[in-house]
Amino acid sequence: MPTTHFSYEGNILCADGVPLTAIAQQYSTPLYVYSRNALTENYLAYADACKKHQHPDAPALICFSVKSNSNLAVLKILGDLGSGFDIVSGGELARVIAAGCDPRKVIFSGVGKTAEEIRFALENDILCFNVESPAELHRINDIAGQMATTARIAFRVNPDVDPKTHPYISTGLKENKFGVAFEEAFDCYKTAAAMPNITITGIDCHIGSQLLDDAPLLEAFDRLATLVDRLEAEGITLQHMDIGGGIGITYHEEQPVAIPDYIARLYARISQWRKDRYNDRPIRLLLEPGRSISGNAGILLTEVQYLKTNAAKNYAVVDAAMNDLMRPALYEAWHTVLPVEKQDSAAATYDIVGPICESGDWLARQRDLAIESGNLLAIMCAGAYSMVMASNYNTRGRAAEVIVDNGQVHLVRRRETPEDLFAFEKVLP
Ligand code: LLP
Repeated sequence: MPTTHFSYEGNILCADGVPLTAIAQQYSTPLYVYSRNALTENYLAYADACKKHQHPDAPALICFSVKSNSNLAVLKILGDLGSGFDIVSGGELARVIAAGCDPRKVIFSGVGKTAEEIRFALENDILCFNVESPAELHRINDIAGQMATTARIAFRVNPDVDPKTHPYISTGLKENKFGVAFEEAFDCYKTAAAMPNITITGIDCHIGSQLLDDAPLLEAFDRLATLVDRLEAEGITLQHMDIGGGIGITYHEEQPVAIPDYIARLYARISQWRKDRYNDRPIRLLLEPGRSISGNAGILLTEVQYLKTNAAKNYAVVDAAMNDLMRPALYEAWHTVLPVEKQDSAAATYDIVGPICESGDWLARQRDLAIESGNLLAIMCAGAYSMVMASNYNTRGRAAEVIVDNGQVHLVRRRETPEDLFAFEKVLP
């Protein structure tokens, strides 16, 4: 069920106490509404748990995964709390900088970093590149050489553990395009160690997303630790271990592991291992959570345009669509749909669909709702992989975004106009 930051007061659904009816009236729909308190709470669940268990000489760094929600205001809220950032493009780095956050807390993942992106990252002295192939390693070394600098790197190692999640969002299996194979990683490190413009600082993995159980993550950690030991024996000492993101949230009835429990289990392993083999010399933990920080901190607010019935089904046609929220169309993902104003009338079963000319344009299916045209609906848990995956298909401007901050509502991205959408286009002379 939805988080407590979006809950009913009387019959009205509120965002941290502010009625969504009032927010919709001021900013119109479709509209993304985020809760600053929810973002803060979710980040602190990680940060506080790490503070409790980490070695004082090796404080953990939580690197929020920018791809899950890249609004500048969201980044700034997290940056001000001390968050670092996991990025996968030069564009995401530009966002971190534009938000006024510290690029030296940025780690750069992704299989296809271009020369331009690598240069941009080096100019901004990012914390670490998560290198995903030998070819990329050579490119980073060359560019760092041209710039007369050194690049800090970790290899993203593919530990080949099954994260038991949706195949589209599982990334740590042998057959995935991500990272270097576990068996090849040792040689990759030896190659890197001999390069003049590379400084090896860590090891990284990310095995998948929306994981409910932490067992696969702990297994990945164990596999990486064996590699760290082999490297140490070879004279290659690592300063950090990055276990990736991946912890899931409750969209429907899922029961994901609690963050403090996961962190406690992770540190129990880290501490024991470092005591046993390294005379308690610490290693820094990095994490790259996205969804578990931003996911339940946002909703998509939409207005019912028409109710419609055919031989098979009832439809509620709303003003949000697959271009605003692609997850249902792409993964058949479940998002809970709540009426913003609870009605007394009898419920019927609806498919919630958008106005786009595709049968795949649905947001929810077979939901029991008491609604009529003009009512507002809240599509829950739309803070992660929602606005960031929005498109302009059907020349639909992307939705506006607001953040509720202690009773105040701030517009943090204005709605796109049709003119915005064709501003870069020209007709032939
Ligand atoms: N680090 C790396 C290298 C990643 O590829 C990802 C997500 C993360 C961190 C953050 O993972 P999280 O903590 O959010 O699970 N669009 C899909 C999710 C794709 C996730 C891709 N990688 C969805 O809507 O479910």
